[in-house]
Amino acid sequence: MRISVFGVGYVGVVSCGCLAELGHEVIGVDVAAEKLAMLRSGRSPIVEEAIDALIADAVRQGRLTATDDVIAAVHQTDVSFVSVGTPSASDGSVSLKAVEHVITTIGEAIRTKPGSHAVVMRSTVPPGTADDNLVPKLEAASGRRIGDGLHYYSNPEFLREGSSVRDFRRPPFTLIGAPDGDDAAIVRQIYAAIEAPIHQTSLRVAESVKHISNVFHAVKLTFANEAGAVLAAAGVDARDALRLLCEDRVLNISPAYLRPGFAFGGSCLPKDIRGFLSLARQRDIRVPMLQTLLPSNETIVDRAFEAIMRRGRQPVALFGLAFKPGTDDLRESPFVMLAEKLLGKGFDLRIYDRYVQVARLMGANRAYIDREIPHLERLMVASPEAALEGVRLAVVGHVTREDRPAMLSALSGHTVLDLAGIAELQQTRGIDYQGICW
Ligand SMILES: NC(=O)c1ccc[n+]([C@@H]2O[C@H](COP(=O)([O-])OP(=O)(O)OC[C@H]3O[C@@H](n4cnc5c(N)ncnc54)[C@H](O)[C@@H]3O)[C@@H](O)[C@H]2O)c1
Repeated sequence: MRISVFGVGYVGVVSCGCLAELGHEVIGVDVAAEKLAMLRSGRSPIVEEAIDALIADAVRQGRLTATDDVIAAVHQTDVSFVSVGTPSASDGSVSLKAVEHVITTIGEAIRTKPGSHAVVMRSTVPPGTADDNLVPKLEAASGRRIGDGLHYYSNPEFLREGSSVRDFRRPPFTLIGAPDGDDAAIVRQIYAAIEAPIHQTSLRVAESVKHISNVFHAVKLTFANEAGAVLAAAGVDARDALRLLCEDRVLNISPAYLRPGFAFGGSCLPKDIRGFLSLARQRDIRVPMLQTLLPSNETIVDRAFEAIMRRGRQPVALFGLAFKPGTDDLRESPFVMLAEKLLGKGFDLRIYDRYVQVARLMGANRAYIDREIPHLERLMVASPEAALEGVRLAVVGHVTREDRPAMLSALSGHTVLDLAGIAELQQTRGIDYQGICW
């Protein structure tokens, strides 16, 4: 494949060297004359393990050249990779000046190119940048429409400086964002020799995965640093504690708890967070991120409450009262908090929760219900159908598998606020559906 790489900084140079190593013909394009001069003489403009030899070999074998001539670079290649900088603007947003400029100049060059051309965005850009900004610019500058001699893909780079050549050769996966109905064959072909799964998704999702990956890494680092500081101050070998935390691949280092949904609660998480924060205070250790956990959790309850309020005061059916499905445990349940907020605003509320219903009748959790939520107990009904009688707005926190068929058929014609992300709900016809966190 013939590939032009726009922006030969950390990402671009590694792409140039590694794509040439894969057998592609590569042209590096930059506005920095000194970087181009270095590349032409077979030297890497960046310091990275293994990059010097890669660049030298690629230039010697004639597979890597460098130019500032955009038209020539576009006309002589099938694909343009864009890896120019996207630094922070003064207001903290991502500055898209360089990518916008490059996309426009590539588009103008495509206008006079006889064959079709693909543009692959490797720079980190916020979700929606392609659809709302770059694709319209590319179409306007090239005079072509996507799918008609013009292609645009998002293919974010996940390499880390310091191990970037290794990361390019063995990435965790190759992520491709493409417009609907486009199989991104050209991008798949470029990476055919790389042994890594390929995930294809929409342009928006691909852009967002790169963005949130970096935020997630920062959250992990900050968690380790804050928790480690508290543990160390409490005389614990924090490295050993964190090492062992990572040994749990079921709940800790796993997809568990990494799905957008409703607020957490229950008898353990809120209590143990408060306990850990208290330990931090006693040891005088500041933990700004951990301190935000409970307030952040409350904002999720508020968000659901506000979504209900926006629909106007009306009778509401709430499915789920225990803090999560499959239990009758009501301690610190976010659904109890939501129900209380609604009651406080004078909403007419019906609540259905199979397990709480059983506990109420059988006495297992009877004492807690009598003591803590007698005002909610009065609102509990015995079936999904009873909850929905005379009600138009259903708020689904959770519902057991056995109750789903009855609930889904009774929901027809209702407005549904889904706090749980239940796939069958999303697919149910005849309801006015709104998800809260997805
Ligand atoms: N550095 C990393 O570890 C890393 C990893 C993954 C993704 N990214 C993302 O990749 C992108 C590039 O990052 P980087 O660290 O390589 O940036 P960089 O600043 O090292 O390189 C950017 C290059 O683009 C060039 N450039 C600017 N305007 C240009 C134009 N109009 N035409 C051609 N070249 C132009 C600059 O001269 C520079 O050489 C960013 O969006 C970044 O967030 C970076």
